[in-house]
Amino acid sequence: MIGRLLAMSALCAASHALAATQAATAQLHADQPGPTIPRYIYGQFSEHLGSGIYDGIWVGEKSSIPNVRGIRSDVVRALRELKVPLIRWPGGCFADDYNWRDGIGPRDKRPGRKNNWWTGKHESNQFGTHEFMDFAEQVGADAYIGVNLGSAPPRDMRDWMEYMTSDGDNALANERRRNGRDQPFKVPVVGIGNESWGCGGNMRPEYYADEYRRFQTFFHNNGQAAPAAIRVASGADREDYNWTDVVMKQAGAKLDALSLHYYTLPPADWKEGGKATRFSKEEWVAILAGALRIDDIIRRHAAIMDKYDPKKRVGLYVDEWGTWYRSDSGKFDWDLRQQNTLRDGVVAAAHFNIFHRHTDRVKQTSIAQTMNVLQAMILTDGPKMVLTPTYYAFKMYVPFQDATALPLDVSSPSYRLGATAIPSINASAAKGKDGKIYIGIANMNPDDNVQFSVNLGTLAATKVSGQVLTAQQMDQFNEFGKSPAVAAQPYRGATLANGALTLDLPAKSVVVVGLE
Ligand code: AHR
Repeated sequence: MIGRLLAMSALCAASHALAATQAATAQLHADQPGPTIPRYIYGQFSEHLGSGIYDGIWVGEKSSIPNVRGIRSDVVRALRELKVPLIRWPGGCFADDYNWRDGIGPRDKRPGRKNNWWTGKHESNQFGTHEFMDFAEQVGADAYIGVNLGSAPPRDMRDWMEYMTSDGDNALANERRRNGRDQPFKVPVVGIGNESWGCGGNMRPEYYADEYRRFQTFFHNNGQAAPAAIRVASGADREDYNWTDVVMKQAGAKLDALSLHYYTLPPADWKEGGKATRFSKEEWVAILAGALRIDDIIRRHAAIMDKYDPKKRVGLYVDEWGTWYRSDSGKFDWDLRQQNTLRDGVVAAAHFNIFHRHTDRVKQTSIAQTMNVLQAMILTDGPKMVLTPTYYAFKMYVPFQDATALPLDVSSPSYRLGATAIPSINASAAKGKDGKIYIGIANMNPDDNVQFSVNLGTLAATKVSGQVLTAQQMDQFNEFGKSPAVAAQPYRGATLANGALTLDLPAKSVVVVGLE
């Protein structure tokens, strides 16, 4: 073992010696504050899919895994650290096949169902409305409920909303009380249909816009404290700009937010590629380049929304995003469980920086998904739990929640491999609620360190501290039962002199610094 360690450290020293250093610069405009970065930008998504709910969140009260009312305590503890602002539930595709009545009342009386979208797996309905709300409350997050537009009439949505949110003396509120909840639940965000162009009903935008208009007519706020629940219409997939155009034109005045789904997928022609681990450098670059495309895609959807909503009343909710690989075995796995490496942490940071630049329109996002599915925060295996590199990226960016965006003009060299080039540096800045100025950076260059010189302009900073997420290997991940190989560490590469900040950024890393 010791021999292996010595050999490894010799290898590390050699690869370090080979690494070159690039130079990048930026100008901070601390005197030109932009919009608030809503905390909802850091939302989560938890669907009845694979082990996203069962095992991941719900283990039941009788489980030997420590739990509070059936909900895993280790997971709740870890998510509280992320200050998760919002959790979207119960789907995804599952939402448009879900009957909310299956998930209320005594658990031993709830019907088992077939989870039609996700492998036909048995759905026990042990985790329903009360359990989800309990989970969200334990985590300290707001609830974002996705209602069924695809396979249920508006009455189901109407009744579910009344059941959850009414404090009156009526049959549904009283049923909720009999089921153990006296006070109404808070439901600040409601999605009316999901991917209605696909698993939510294969609708054309014209048809969905009409359906949405019909549904929202029966959507009642039930006296929930102001502001009224935000109604989110099902939005476009990726570059389907026509969807955004038609829905905004025909229903824009009757919705509060429109969603957008953008997954970072391996190129379609990569038969053997697209692995979550053991990927090549070409795959690193292709995935990062794919992730960065969301910048332009948001810009183009936002421009269409501007046409119909110049005052920007309607939010763009990127309520599904993240990496979606083929499984490591090369076979597609419909449980959508995938390993999560340093690359995913870097992808997450790049998304955050991009979202921060669009918060005049982008008011919410949720990564897919919280537990055990796609680009997860946390993986579980029975009683074991591991925090992923994506988890650490979220944790490092917590100070950006409700911060004020500050313009940061970045000039970055490129990293080029074959026909693909990406900028090495992707960054954003904000003034945190604690008064500190934060800069978040993804160094997407897998080979080279970058010396990043930031002109602080009018900002007179005297102190800098930060955290870094990096690893020796680009596909390094954290394993059950071992200390994490990829975790946020104190960052010591910053120097402040004469109004300038210089950051030595390791290759393939995420760095967040705070300036005082
Ligand atoms: O996140 C997994 C699935 O991806 C969701 O259920 C669906 O909305 C999307 O296609």
